Amino acid sequence: MLDVRDPVANPIASSIPLSRPNLLESDIETACEVLRSGQLIQGQYVRLLEEHVSALLGVHETKAVASGTAALHLALLALEVGPGDEVIVPAFSFVATANVVELVGATPVFVDIELDGYNIEPQRVEEAITPRTRAIMPVHQFGLVCEIEQIGAVAERHQLALVEDAACAIGAQSEGQPAGSFGTIACFSLHPRKIITSGEGGLVVSNDHTLTHRVDLLRNHGIEMVDGKKDFACAGYNYRLTDFQAALAYAQASRLESNLAYRAQLAATYRETIVHSLVTVPSVPRGRVHAWQTYHVLLDDAVDRSQLVSHLRSRGVQAGPGAQCIPAVGFYQEKYAMDVDERFPNALNASRQGLALPLSETMTIDEAAYVAAQLNDFRL
Ligand SMILES: Cc1ncc(COP(=O)(O)O)c(C=O)c1O
Repeated sequence: MLDVRDPVANPIASSIPLSRPNLLESDIETACEVLRSGQLIQGQYVRLLEEHVSALLGVHETKAVASGTAALHLALLALEVGPGDEVIVPAFSFVATANVVELVGATPVFVDIELDGYNIEPQRVEEAITPRTRAIMPVHQFGLVCEIEQIGAVAERHQLALVEDAACAIGAQSEGQPAGSFGTIACFSLHPRKIITSGEGGLVVSNDHTLTHRVDLLRNHGIEMVDGKKDFACAGYNYRLTDFQAALAYAQASRLESNLAYRAQLAATYRETIVHSLVTVPSVPRGRVHAWQTYHVLLDDAVDRSQLVSHLRSRGVQAGPGAQCIPAVGFYQEKYAMDVDERFPNALNASRQGLALPLSETMTIDEAAYVAAQLNDFRL
């Protein structure tokens, strides 16, 4: 049996980890109850989770699925995005953002980011629109809502679908409106590094019933009930979330507000205590509530990031890159051969000099101050 306190069996026990799921014994007990019941899929917790998230965001419908990637994949399929279409995405994100565009046979069109906030540059979004553009898919990077009002207006002007990749942003807001409630459709991830986790898992939300109905069919083999009889309406996937996973996520979703408040305290501790002249801490624009899924700082070019990561590791602190400059990674560089230095300087800079620091509800405020002190102590 795994001893969670044994640093060899469980490496995150030995240091301040980048992130650690905040699972209470009562959450685990709820998941165990589902396991004991024998009803492992399509039980009550998937429905409870979906209803809870819809109420939280003020959207009509939520569909729970197997991962954040599955959520984005189904969102694009539901919108009937396919070969010949283009989807505008930020050049700096986790690769899944672009991969799902490839998976439906469409072409990702990359747009550079702004270094304040690491989100897609709204003015450049409009410049990237062509007659083949079908959708704009901005990311709320690290839990900060992008310039969604501006981007939404562009989408509306050009009659394009707006797909929010809100993988990291459950609980984030702009002008009091929750991330995930702006788009034609939006997606969240329930991966263990996210604010709510089910292990693997994802959520698709929308006010458009036609879209959520398609997601419902596509996540479950195309199965549709017609007049009480089972039919197969399309060739679907098995992208369902299990009920014991949903039970874990539901338990955490119920205390989201206090978890977000604690994350904000950790972020404030970092902001007040990181004073290294070569480190820029994130700022939050007026009107935004950051969900602080990740605390991501930017290092001056003079800093060798791997040296800093080793320094922190030697002091018991895990840190690492936050996301990728997607057009610069293997598959995308080979397929599109873009001049990334010229076209995506900010995305490249963020991918090379960005650093994610530990942040999760299982961390103490003193630990955040300790991490900041070790960072401040770094010398070139
Ligand atoms: C911005 C973004 N989009 C999509 C995903 C994919 O989510 P998942 O890992 O649940 O498939 C992630 C996960 O890290 C992400 O950060």
